[in-house]
Amino acid sequence: MPVQTGPLGPFPEGADPEEYEKLRRRVLWKMPSGLYVLGAVGDGGASLNAMTLSWATQVSSDPKLVGVSVEKAAYTHGLVDESGVFVLNIIAREDRAIVRKFTKPIEVDRDAATLNGFDYVIAGSGAPVLARAVAWLDAGVRQRVDCGAYTLFVGEVLDCAFRAPEDTEVLRMEDTRLNYGG
Ligand SMILES: Cc1cc2nc3c(=O)[nH]c(=O)nc-3n(C[C@H](O)[C@H](O)[C@H](O)COP(=O)(O)O)c2cc1C
Repeated sequence: MPVQTGPLGPFPEGADPEEYEKLRRRVLWKMPSGLYVLGAVGDGGASLNAMTLSWATQVSSDPKLVGVSVEKAAYTHGLVDESGVFVLNIIAREDRAIVRKFTKPIEVDRDAATLNGFDYVIAGSGAPVLARAVAWLDAGVRQRVDCGAYTLFVGEVLDCAFRAPEDTEVLRMEDTRLNYGG
């Protein structure tokens, strides 16, 4: 993977690269986004993982496709690439502490059926659903779009459900002091 050492172009004519890079990051951060936990499985079910992810969106209604963009360096990337499935967990606004717990390598306890201490159940694809997710989507990867340091996995929704009342408020980036990308 190329190592980024300086400002990343292209730059508008006359722009100072460093200043423009800071401005561009702030504009990109301004884009509203949700905040999810992506569940992944590998090695025929022997490996499970979950990671915090903000780059998720529906990309087609016919067929029902959702895209998630995962950094190639992430452990989750290899799992989704290999298994061809993922679960998108939609998190309650009051559970914002959860997403902080899935931004580093996690602890999987198969006996207790927990990921970082949070109960999980297994979706039809084999990927984990957080028991306290408001709702979840189980998806089968239909396309992989190379996006440089990331792969955009486009998945078809194979199954989904609510685990909490439908009117439960869900987590968005703006509910936290976090940001990502830019
Ligand atoms: C607010 C926030 C949003 C994030 N969104 C993404 C994302 O959309 N895609 C991604 O690849 N990583 C994202 N990350 C980083 C991953 O959560 C982080 O790299 C994680 O450790 C990857 O886990 P893994 O290596 O176990 O797969 C985000 C981190 C934070 C704090």
